[in-house]
Amino acid sequence: MERTSWDGVFRDGRDLFTVNRTPGIRVYGETLRTVSGIEHRLWDPFRSKLAALLLKGAAENLLANVRSALYLGGAHGTTVSHLSDVWPTATIFVVEKSPTAFAPLLALARRRTNLLPLLADAQLPERYQADVGSVDFLYQDVAQRNQAEIFVENARTCLAPGGRGVLMLKVRSVTQRRPSAAIVRAARETLVREGLTVRSEAPLVPFSREHVALTVES
Ligand SMILES: C[S@@+](CC[C@H](N)C(=O)[O-])C[C@H]1O[C@@H](n2cnc3c(N)ncnc32)[C@H](O)[C@@H]1O
Repeated sequence: MERTSWDGVFRDGRDLFTVNRTPGIRVYGETLRTVSGIEHRLWDPFRSKLAALLLKGAAENLLANVRSALYLGGAHGTTVSHLSDVWPTATIFVVEKSPTAFAPLLALARRRTNLLPLLADAQLPERYQADVGSVDFLYQDVAQRNQAEIFVENARTCLAPGGRGVLMLKVRSVTQRRPSAAIVRAARETLVREGLTVRSEAPLVPFSREHVALTVES
């Protein structure tokens, strides 16, 4: 097991791992591996688009120096559980609008105290702005037609100047009719128009054929 250039992420061959903050407990049936007395959780790129992005060659500083983060579309907590491992001392606000998904997220947050779940709609950041304040990192994975606009609104409301972010753009959620390249271009234009800098664009094949990851800085 070796360190990677991404803070808190380890590698064994092609497999990525994080150190398990809750030893003995799996979140989504992932493999656990103990090396030199430290338990690690396999980070599955087919289950987590962020692991896919790292394997596709994300910038070394993508996860560096994060003290607070806003995660939109937490679902059952697969990806955010790994961020909880990666940033043990950070505060991670997790927005999820489905009450069905929120229940397991809440249970996860009882064991992982750096996660703060919010049952809310990411389209209305003004409702949670007072709780969240200004964060260093914004992550969005919500399958909505207006994904880029939702990201921009949350960046404007909650992302600190110089903060970083990742928009997991689900191309098919925008429209079935236009080619993917045009959809990605339109999303990039929305981000840039609002003053965000797009640092990279990564299709997530072979891990997801429907998603393109855009990394940004404010
Ligand atoms: C693909 S899943 C997220 C998977 C998760 N990010 C992971 O990697 O573990 C998308 C989630 O976004 C949530 N979602 C969709 N629209 C939303 C919105 N407007 N506000 C908050 N959550 C939303 C859905 O309920 C669903 O749980």
